[in-house]
Amino acid sequence: MNLLQKIDASLSYIRSMTAFEPKFGIILGTGLGNLVEEIDIEVTIPYEDIPHFPLSTLEFHKGKLLFGTLASKPVVAMQGRFHFYEGYSLKEVTYPVRVLKALGIEKLLISNAAGSVNENIHTSDLMIIKDHIDLQPENPLRGLNHPELGPRFPDMSEPYDLSMIEMAKSVAKELDIECHTGVYASVQGPNLETKAEYVHLNRIGADAVGMSTVPEVIVAVHSGLPVFAISVITDANYPPEIVTKVTLEEVLAAARKAEPKMTLLLKQLIARL
Ligand code: HPA
Repeated sequence: MNLLQKIDASLSYIRSMTAFEPKFGIILGTGLGNLVEEIDIEVTIPYEDIPHFPLSTLEFHKGKLLFGTLASKPVVAMQGRFHFYEGYSLKEVTYPVRVLKALGIEKLLISNAAGSVNENIHTSDLMIIKDHIDLQPENPLRGLNHPELGPRFPDMSEPYDLSMIEMAKSVAKELDIECHTGVYASVQGPNLETKAEYVHLNRIGADAVGMSTVPEVIVAVHSGLPVFAISVITDANYPPEIVTKVTLEEVLAAARKAEPKMTLLLKQLIARL
């Protein structure tokens, strides 16, 4: 079965469960799931029921698609996302984006937890992603291209939708939420970086580093889907003198602290789209 046939089978199953037509797709980052509590949920579909969805690891045994309304807009949210470090290929990691596109979403909104490599961006700050540096060791578009899904050599000169960036900035200003704009570098993980690697990331032009988002953005751009993405900074790592040992608990605590402002920003952005 090729990718097109798999997407068709996933779509048929979802369509047999609901006629809901989402306009916006949402993928939420580690420790940033609270936005789903704001969704008026109409239908829930566990990933494991959807043909060809990646088989969930234990961590994500509760992964599901949530269909409902947020700020009066029809959305589909992924509760649980897939990462390369869990062992999935990037084709598997990004498969749900293909399915969301086939479901008819018109825009994709993504959040993630990231480490800062910019001395002016601190723990629990927000950073709207304006560009990225792909440092992952694989590419979700590698192999046979299906022209029905997108071009062989997609342009990447503007992967993040400028109008959504501007809208989010003005929402942040109105709500008095401090928000940076910067470049996100994606690495494979699961280890965090050495001090020398954080310096390297700063020198090559990154402001933040994380283990997700870029593969999903590449597939969204390939599919012609406008993307908005935002990072919650969970640890600050530049200059190297400020680097401290970081535990998952600390990452989650920093994400939790910044989550309410990120949730508010995303909700108000969707309200205006
Ligand atoms: N590096 C990579 N990924 C991350 C980090 C980091 O410092 N913090 C949160 N996700």
